[in-house]
Amino acid sequence: MQALILAGGKGTRLRPLTIHTPKPIVPIANRPFLLYQIDLLKQAGITDITLALSYQPGRIEEMLGNGQEFGVRLHYTVEPSPLGTAGAYKKAGEHLSETAIVLNGDTLTALDLADVVACHREKKAAATIVLVPVEDPTLYGVVETEQNGRVRGFREKPKHDEVSGNTINAGIYVLEPHILDLVPDDEPFSFEYQLFPALLERNEAFYAYVWHGYWLDIGTPARYLQASLDVLDGRLNGLRAAQSGAQVFRGDGELTRIDEVSIIDPSCTIRPGAEISRSVLGPNCLVEERARIEGSVLWGGSRIGHSSLVRNSVVGRSGIVGRNAVVENAILGDKSSLSDYTLV
Ligand code: GDD
Ligand code: MG
Repeated sequence: MQALILAGGKGTRLRPLTIHTPKPIVPIANRPFLLYQIDLLKQAGITDITLALSYQPGRIEEMLGNGQEFGVRLHYTVEPSPLGTAGAYKKAGEHLSETAIVLNGDTLTALDLADVVACHREKKAAATIVLVPVEDPTLYGVVETEQNGRVRGFREKPKHDEVSGNTINAGIYVLEPHILDLVPDDEPFSFEYQLFPALLERNEAFYAYVWHGYWLDIGTPARYLQASLDVLDGRLNGLRAAQSGAQVFRGDGELTRIDEVSIIDPSCTIRPGAEISRSVLGPNCLVEERARIEGSVLWGGSRIGHSSLVRNSVVGRSGIVGRNAVVENAILGDKSSLSDYTLV
């Protein structure tokens, strides 16, 4: 089996974090996001993976290379201008000669893909779509199904008065190769607005697989932070992310407290009296004396000044927070700089 990850969106809703870092490789618990999807595919025995890129493709290729380091074989396609979700699938056609798994490149999940494939085969489906229940379906593609799991309707981003249910498209599909023939070459085309409605119209064997476990689209700052904390909390299959550790300095009688769930890159420096709980610190961060970091994510090179508090926030790469500042429920873009005593 082969897989395609759709990773060409601009990530506009995740700004400012995606101004210098494309969404597919934003760090989640200090690992580029796509590695979680690669792990998911590997768990199902799928190692032949194509990444469909468009926005900042160089950065992504540079980070993941040919995939050998991660135990997979990666191919890349690059759309000079975005072809839409199904257009990207068509463009990757030369790498998809078998049954293929297609993933949106921004969903974090503990789904068992092998089970999805088994159901797809059992139903002899042409297409299988994974569904998840959510609270606000208007942000997603709403899918209606028959009792036997067959898809009956698909409506992308319905208005409140058009919502017909709360099970939505999780952005994970299993597709037989002939589905490629329904997509035109070299022109923008959408799974959500065009291909799925076409499958229904043609009466293709289009089935749903409902997943009740962990699933999250990381595409907004609030959800990005949520995803990071969920990994720390072990909500994703108990999977713990990257290596932890730091140079911790102890002052006279001043205890530095770092809880067990936090993930701290070993290159960080933590000064006496600092407290870190339920947080992620990327490479080369500096936390000064008596600063407190709670429920937050600091990207590489951030510096948090003496006695400052950072809570429930994200600090982008090389962000600087002066001393005695309070940063709560905030998203700071790369290289933000806050002077002493600032309240955000
Ligand atoms: N290569 C390529 N080219 N990738 C694209 C393009 C494109 O033109 N447009 C979007 N993508 C990628 C994005 O990078 C992302 O990984 C994925 O396709 C989905 O795009 P989003 O922009 O994040 O869509 P969404 O979150 O609003 O809605 C989609 O995902 C929901 C689940 O999170 C839809 O598939 C919904 O139906 C679904 O419910
Ligand atoms: Mg999305």
